[in-house]
Order: sequence, then structure tokens, then C-alpha cells
Amino acid sequence: MKKYEIQQNRVVMVDVPVPEINEHQVLVKMHALALNHRDYLVVNGVTRWKLSEDGRVPVADGAGEVVKLGRSVTEFALGDKVSSLIVPNWQDGEMTPAKLQGSPGGPGADGLAAEYVVFEQSAIVKFPQYLSYQDAAALPCAGVTAWNAIVENSHLIPGDSVLIIGTGGVSLFAMQFALMMGCEVIVTSSSDEKLTQVRKLGAHHTINYKKHEDWVEQVMQITNQKGVAHIAEVVGGNHLNESLKCIRSGGTISQIGAIQGVVEGALDTAEIMYKAVNIKGVEVGSKAMHKRMLRAMQVQLMKPVIHQVFDFSELGEAIDYQGSGGQFGKIGISF
Ligand SMILES: NC(=O)c1ccc[n+]([C@@H]2O[C@H](COP(=O)([O-])OP(=O)(O)OC[C@H]3O[C@@H](n4cnc5c(N)ncnc54)[C@H](OP(=O)(O)O)[C@@H]3O)[C@@H](O)[C@H]2O)c1
Repeated sequence: MKKYEIQQNRVVMVDVPVPEINEHQVLVKMHALALNHRDYLVVNGVTRWKLSEDGRVPVADGAGEVVKLGRSVTEFALGDKVSSLIVPNWQDGEMTPAKLQGSPGGPGADGLAAEYVVFEQSAIVKFPQYLSYQDAAALPCAGVTAWNAIVENSHLIPGDSVLIIGTGGVSLFAMQFALMMGCEVIVTSSSDEKLTQVRKLGAHHTINYKKHEDWVEQVMQITNQKGVAHIAEVVGGNHLNESLKCIRSGGTISQIGAIQGVVEGALDTAEIMYKAVNIKGVEVGSKAMHKRMLRAMQVQLMKPVIHQVFDFSELGEAIDYQGSGGQFGKIGISF
């Protein structure tokens, strides 16, 4: 079978035998992968995503079909359609550093860029029939993170305003979940074309942050100078100060991202204090959150926004494209 390895900050396709399973494991024939910003950071060795040696299999998220079962596997049958989990050790309950270990496609474990992948039965979930393999592959990292931020760790009520920064994978899921909760949604983007698309998806207000340096003032105007109730902060670094200007008193900023690996910034601590802002770090989400997200999505028949699907043979190109930020939503890979 074909699989990819990261060698010298490039993805290289290699030929290897189909892996064996033990009695507790499941063999999955992969049908789709989806990329995240972190896959770009891992391949390029940026900050905490730097690998200690070559040979790691890239890509965190994927979906496929169960083709072989260990004798002790009880939760799955041959032919089941399953997707991966972003942090398989975090099954439920409070997050701990230990539960975050072993996330696929990062410094701690191999990823899914292979025609066949072995999973522990606890490391996959079935997904509803209305979703395609490509849809299901889009969910583990970006979908669950956005669900965690907007639904599980917010105090939002219908009518509250939510600011979505950018139109990448996490941001569009966050927008869809905020709309699902009946919130008023403001989206910023560097592209008018992408803003036209988010309006079609239901966003109430849009601002081009590249064209309008005063985009923070525009957010304040839209909210009658109150500021928004919740922000999905995916950029990180000094950008958090811009979010602090847009948040209302007592509002919550979900600190999700570090675009291009920027992990540090100066902070206006007075603004945090005067506005009694809740800054809530968000680190992906558990298997239980993933299942609750699937249940909510199924009720609404919500589908992820997939910008473009590359062939498995074009993984390197797709990862470069992910880093360019040109996408609207998710980039998929088909087999
Ligand atoms: N904490 C977690 O658990 C977690 C999980 C998933 C992702 N993340 C992080 O969240 C971030 C987003 O990930 P992703 O996979 O959704 O990325 P992505 O699909 O590559 O999206 C990136 C988008 O961010 C927007 N952007 C970039 N620079 C910006 C700026 N200066 N101001 C405003 N918007 C800007 C752009 O939107 P426009 O093109 O519309 O301008 C760009 O398309 C990354 O930093 C990633 O590492 C964290």
C-alpha cells in the first residue's frame, strides 16, 4: 500500500505492506482525509509542531471503512463507516495533559496519510449516513474545536452576537454552530468573495479586515458600541488585543489559534480587567464532544464547507495550499 512520511520538511510517498492488527484493533481502508493548519505547521516544523526525527506519517483527520476486525472488537462491524478522533486518549470528562498525548499526525503519533490505517477501537467513531467520507473527515480537529468553543464552553443564548475571525476550517464551523444556536454572526475576512459566500451561508454582517483597518470600530458600530458576546480567536499573538477591543463586558474570547505558529503577544491586561473578560483557551475536544456534535449536526443535516478536494497523490501540493490561507473552509484529500 501507499503511505506518506515526512522527510526533511516534505511529504514523501513510500510503498509498505498493509499493516497487521491485534485482537483489540480495527483496520480501516481510508477513503478521505482533511487538512488543518496544524498539518502545515507539522510538515514545516514550526514551533511546538517540530518533529524530532524524519519518518512521521502526516495528517490528523480522516475517514474510511472498516475492513478487518480483531477478535475482541465489539463496537464495530465490517463495512462500518468511521472517522478518526483528534485526541483519542481524551474520551470524556475534563481535559488533562495526559489525555492530549498521542494526537495523530503530530510529534506524538503517526497520522493517517496511508491507504490502510490501524486504529484502537476507542480511537474511531461511526458517523451518520447523510455525511460523505469527505464530510466526516473534515470534523475531528476543526469541527470538534469549534463545537467545544461555541457550544460546550460558551454561555451563549439565542440573539447573542458572535465574532468569527477569518474563513478557514475552524472559523466556518464556528460560524455554522453559532448560527445553529440562533446567534447574530459577524464574520471578518481578507476577501470580499469569501464574505459573499459566508452571507449565503447565513452570516448577518461581514467586514473585510484587509480593506478596512478600522474593522474593530465596525464591529462596535454593528453592536451599538456594546461589543460582541463571544469571539472565536483563531489568529493568536497580538491579535488577541484586537479581540479585547471587540468583546463586550463579561464576554468570552475562545483562544483557539496561532496562525503561522505565532504563540506569543503583548496583552492589554487592563482591558481584560475593566471588561471582566473571560479568556478561555480551547484545545480540540473529547470523543464525547465529537459524538454530541454529530448528534446536533444530524438534527440540522449540517454539512461542513469543503473548498477543494485534492487526490492522495497531490498531498504535498494540498499542504502548501493549506498554508497559503487561500481556502474557504476545508481542504480534502480523496483516495
Ligand atoms: N486549539 C485548538 O484545539 C485548535 C484546533 C484547530 C485549529 N487550531 C488553530 O486555529 C487556527 C485556524 O486553523 P484552521 O485549520 O481553521 O486554519 P485555516 O483553515 O488555514 O484558516 C486560516 C484562516 O485564518 C484567517 N486569517 C489568517 N490570518 C489572519 C489575520 N491576520 N486576521 C484575521 N484572519 C486571519 C484567514 O481567513 P481569510 O482568508 O478569510 O482572511 C485564513 O484563511 C490555526 O492557528 C490552528 O493552528 C487550534
